[in-house]
Amino acid sequence: MTPARPAIILDCDPGHDDAVAIVLAAHLCDVLGITTVAGNAPLERTTYNARVMRHLLNLDTEVHSGADAPLVVPAAAAGYVHGESGLDGAELPEPTRPVDGTDAVGFIIDTVRTNPGCSLVVTGPMTNVALAITSAPDIVNLVAEISFMGGGTFGNRTTMAEFNLWADPHAAATVVRSGAPLVMAGLDVTHRFQATEPRIAAVRAVGGTLATTLADLFDFFSENYRSRHDDMAGAAVHDPLSVLAVCRPDLFTSTARFVDIVTDGEHTRGMTVIDRRTLLDRPAANCTVLDDVDADAAWQIVVDAVAAATH
Ligand code: RIB
Ligand code: CA
Repeated sequence: MTPARPAIILDCDPGHDDAVAIVLAAHLCDVLGITTVAGNAPLERTTYNARVMRHLLNLDTEVHSGADAPLVVPAAAAGYVHGESGLDGAELPEPTRPVDGTDAVGFIIDTVRTNPGCSLVVTGPMTNVALAITSAPDIVNLVAEISFMGGGTFGNRTTMAEFNLWADPHAAATVVRSGAPLVMAGLDVTHRFQATEPRIAAVRAVGGTLATTLADLFDFFSENYRSRHDDMAGAAVHDPLSVLAVCRPDLFTSTARFVDIVTDGEHTRGMTVIDRRTLLDRPAANCTVLDDVDADAAWQIVVDAVAAATH
């Protein structure tokens, strides 16, 4: 039975879709804290953007910054998707509350240990979480799950690798091999959750600063996706699905599968190997792989979350 308001730590790299994950987390969860990582933009920007969203939501939670670079590979941002600021497309308010700390890894360890049964929701490169697990392996037995956005049967940064896992493949391998309960929102499911123009209009119709800001961000994000794809009606809003997987698993279909990560190779760095065979002697499943989502119901929760934060 899913708790009324699951306790989560959201580790993220805002990022337009991370911003929506923060909106949903504020609406549906007990947000124990937000930790930030370099990803869509450098750490300074992803941390600033997390503070902007906390400000817009008037959300009383801590923001702790974390890793400014991957474990092994060089840092690489995604300005080609999110713009140089990481949240291009809208006029953003200046956040007033400062960052609460710069040791995201220590915050994750301490918070999981003092809140056993909480969930780790990871929507950026997994560097912070991998460092936390390496430093404190006990936390994999204390979390309810690690619900992460990443991977899939195809890529978006390369042919076979999704950005979060490509950006820090060694961190992703550490987390996926950790033994923690895993829920994976890969591109196969997130591409079914698109910010189409009618859905953006439904957010804008809520009215107020948050709705207008989010709708402007969605317009930028979706125009970027439409300009770079030949088959998408709007941006795939990846990250909020990892929040919904914790709070509303009923909105998804899923399959338990063995998943591993490839850490090198021109075409395979960051690729998820997902065992979809029916062989009886296949490896034991280590991950709940989300296959499909009730996109209309999920989007209605986005609209409801914006309205709840506004009124
Ligand atoms: O590939 C999509 C993922 O990479 C999303 O989490 C997006 O925000 C970026 O971090
Ligand atoms: Ca992200």
